[in-house]
Amino acid sequence: MAAPINVWDYERLAEEKLDANAHAYFAGGAGDEVTLRENVAAFERRKLRPRVLVDVRTVSAATTVLGTDIELPVLIAPVALQRIAHRDGELATARAAAAAGTIMCLSTAATVRPAEVAAAAPEAARWFQVYVFGDRSLTEELIAEAVENGFSALVLTVDVPYLGRRERDLRVDFKIPEHLTPAGDIFGLGFDAGASWRDLEWLAGHGGPVVVKGILTAEDARLACEHGAAAVVVSNHGGRQLDGVPAALDALEEVVEAVDGRAE
Ligand code: GLV
Repeated sequence: MAAPINVWDYERLAEEKLDANAHAYFAGGAGDEVTLRENVAAFERRKLRPRVLVDVRTVSAATTVLGTDIELPVLIAPVALQRIAHRDGELATARAAAAAGTIMCLSTAATVRPAEVAAAAPEAARWFQVYVFGDRSLTEELIAEAVENGFSALVLTVDVPYLGRRERDLRVDFKIPEHLTPAGDIFGLGFDAGASWRDLEWLAGHGGPVVVKGILTAEDARLACEHGAAAVVVSNHGGRQLDGVPAALDALEEVVEAVDGRAE
């Protein structure tokens, strides 16, 4: 295939290059993948209203997120297990984020340590994603390492009381390759299905603003603000958790209205 020029090209290349195990994991969503498809369809439904005869010789898409200046309003979401796809994994993603002038959020289930990501792109802004596990000690250890290494915000994922039922993973009998730690250990720990809004307050005590990732309703957006969220990520986990929920983009308006400027 010729050099990729858009994300669809990258998707096709990934299908060619990745083994079935890795491809199922990265490409798949939960259940019948209704929400996975909706996430894309929702963008296709939106149409632009162009205005003309405006001086566009100097333009910029730069913005600020939680006090950090970025070159474009696109952040890199926390994607687990990146070394399943390529040996450079999260380190390459960190360098790419730095080159693009944006923020990478490192997954708790990464295949490298927070300190290694910091070393790979020392100047780049970075956030750290957190799960609530039954046993908090490994999470606490990772958070401490992240804070020490300049990860400037903690992103609490709230839509994984249990891992989604991903049928592509079931079909290939998905396995995390054994040499990829600490991620292997982390999925083994077990998510805390009893996690509550109190856990958001617990996390807020660890330094840095807390971002809540996985909000889709006005009710939860209000609760996130009331429990100290500095920012809210409107997300359905890439369609990988509860199938049948709305596209993130379709939930955006209701969440923005409910937050009402109290959080980013
Ligand atoms: C991890 O967050 C995953 O969706 O697999």
